[in-house]
Amino acid sequence: MKKFFVTFLLMITVAVTSTARAAEFEMVEYSAQVKLQWLTAAGVPDAENFLKLLNRPVFFNAENLDDFERIKLVNSLYQELNYSAAIEYVRAKNYRNVFDLACSLSPRAMHLGDEGRKVVVGELQTVCLIGDWCIDEFGKKAKRNVKYDAFWLQDTAGMMKSADKLKGELCIIEQGVMIYLADDVRAQMYENIRAVLKKHGGCLITSDFCQKKYFTDVAAALYGDSEAPTLYAETKAMYEKVFDDKLADDALQDEQEAIEFLATHGLRAEKIPLFKSTPKLNVANKLTSAQIQRINAVAAKNYLWVITAI
Ligand SMILES: C[S@@+](CC[C@H](N)C(=O)[O-])C[C@H]1O[C@@H](n2cnc3c(N)ncnc32)[C@H](O)[C@@H]1O
Repeated sequence: MKKFFVTFLLMITVAVTSTARAAEFEMVEYSAQVKLQWLTAAGVPDAENFLKLLNRPVFFNAENLDDFERIKLVNSLYQELNYSAAIEYVRAKNYRNVFDLACSLSPRAMHLGDEGRKVVVGELQTVCLIGDWCIDEFGKKAKRNVKYDAFWLQDTAGMMKSADKLKGELCIIEQGVMIYLADDVRAQMYENIRAVLKKHGGCLITSDFCQKKYFTDVAAALYGDSEAPTLYAETKAMYEKVFDDKLADDALQDEQEAIEFLATHGLRAEKIPLFKSTPKLNVANKLTSAQIQRINAVAAKNYLWVITAI
């Protein structure tokens, strides 16, 4: 507990030293917690552990969101699909090293660390402070294998220095981050990723490139084609309300444009099914059998991009 107060005091100090830092702190608060809220609602145990450790009120509820129950179910399912697809990919290829980029507080890292894989979570300093404290509370295995490391995604030397802490081929995971980034930051992040892949080998996995279509497909599986665009728009508005910014949702959502973008950064993509076989999802016990059937069909679509250096 003592460490929590030290961490908390440090965070407060960081947050009040400048307005720029304060803005960063708010963003971290929001993004770290919202993902955990949805994964917890899905029934992912490690996400619930994190939320309990943070012990703060959740951001979204029926009082501040009109369509809360539907938004909650779509986002819980979407987040658990991403969480599980990444874990399954790392396991299938048996990557011993995982570089989880801008993951905020990462139940996925804890899970992979528990399996004996080395995981470096690259994040902003404020998230690293909370993340390190959480690792201590999670227990010995996580403490041995998972490490939070502070660097900006656009910082070439910082990203490489962090990647160099892992020995051997890497599976880099980038999920739900590039859609927030300005064009120049995103481009620099991909340059940096290429340099890391060239040096270490391995791949990057993400489902962000056709995220709009993918999310809409998930919503349609739950509530039908006609409701899906509304649920996408409501979710986007929800994030923008807290984030106070626009999601760059049209950036690189066209498949061909994304492939060309990657090629200009010396990268190539292979699109593979989110899951090789029917996924076992915690959230399934909140779904009807017809919804599960439709979700299984989405899970078999090529929404996972495996990106390697040319
Ligand atoms: C929406 S969350 C990421 C979600 C997470 N990757 C997942 O799999 O669900 C966005 C995260 O990106 C981090 N972030 C945003 N801009 C960043 C930057 N330029 N450099 C490093 N981290 C950044 C934030 O701290 C935040 O935790």
